[in-house]
Amino acid sequence: MKTNPSPMFPATRLRRNRKADWSRRLVCENTLSANDLIWPLFLIQGKGKREAIPSMPGVERLSVDEAVRAAEQAVELGIPVIALFPHTSLDKRDPKGSLALDPNNLVAQATRAIKAAFPQIGVLCDAALDPYTSHGHDGLMDGDRILNDETVELLVQQSLMQVEAGCDIIAPSDMMDGRVAAIRAGLEKSGHTDTQIMSYAAKFASAFYGPFRDAIGSTGALKGDKRTYQMDPANGDEAIREVALDIAEGADMVMVKPGMPYLDVLTRVKQEFGMPTFAYQVSGEYAMLAGAIENGWLDRDRVILESLMSFKRAGADGVLTYFAPVAARLLKNI
Ligand code: PBG
Repeated sequence: MKTNPSPMFPATRLRRNRKADWSRRLVCENTLSANDLIWPLFLIQGKGKREAIPSMPGVERLSVDEAVRAAEQAVELGIPVIALFPHTSLDKRDPKGSLALDPNNLVAQATRAIKAAFPQIGVLCDAALDPYTSHGHDGLMDGDRILNDETVELLVQQSLMQVEAGCDIIAPSDMMDGRVAAIRAGLEKSGHTDTQIMSYAAKFASAFYGPFRDAIGSTGALKGDKRTYQMDPANGDEAIREVALDIAEGADMVMVKPGMPYLDVLTRVKQEFGMPTFAYQVSGEYAMLAGAIENGWLDRDRVILESLMSFKRAGADGVLTYFAPVAARLLKNI
């Protein structure tokens, strides 16, 4: 769409429409509401447990019962979806990430408990091995190599296990090739024809994931980096190819990740495909804002809402954000 040519000043004074609150509201182009938010939660073993995550001030790891209470809050606040991420200690990890397939792992337990208590909320689960592997990678390894096709087979099994537990949206976050097609085929074959796939379609090898790796217990485990599967931050055209493939393979929704450093990619993806498109305001983005807010350097309420609105303006239909409950309260004035 081309902008209409405007007559010269003073026929055009763009400040006219900004002169009062009512007028600014009238010409406002984008809106943000609780319906746009997905709230990621971190899980730990135990009961009645909440554990602070030092690199994410204000975010806690929750035992399953506490996660159910968080889900209740999400329902009250009108947040449509929660996303579940497990913390796994080193002694429970192995090179194959075996715990990923255990129908009694934390994600499965929390999914069952949340869907039993609040069937009206959407539950999103990652398909990825990294919370469970002793080397912290998203794939099986042969020496230094990350094995693609062998990993994909496990991702299908992990997805089916999570769906059996009640998961509504499978979100493959591993960046293996061909995993969306394989997961979709597995879901169709097993009769789970309504399970949505939100693909982490353009996911970059980013330094902004640091606090997340603390949160799930991967920081000490991870050897090397993820650059043979996650994307080079220098590449935009390649992101479009990644997204095109995931759509062709059966994704219902696509995601760009991280968020604010990749708004250009988000806009291109939305304009190119017109798919339901999501941004992940990742842990490092949260940490930057939360740290500055804690120090009094940024205005909490305004900077949270401005950061989230930037995703809507760039073309996102929704945002995964650790600020979700805070933002929803601000948007509802409670
Ligand atoms: C793992 C996964 C990561 C995130 C979501 N799923 C980290 C990674 O790829 O190392 C990052 C989320 C965040 O930083 O908030 N597959």
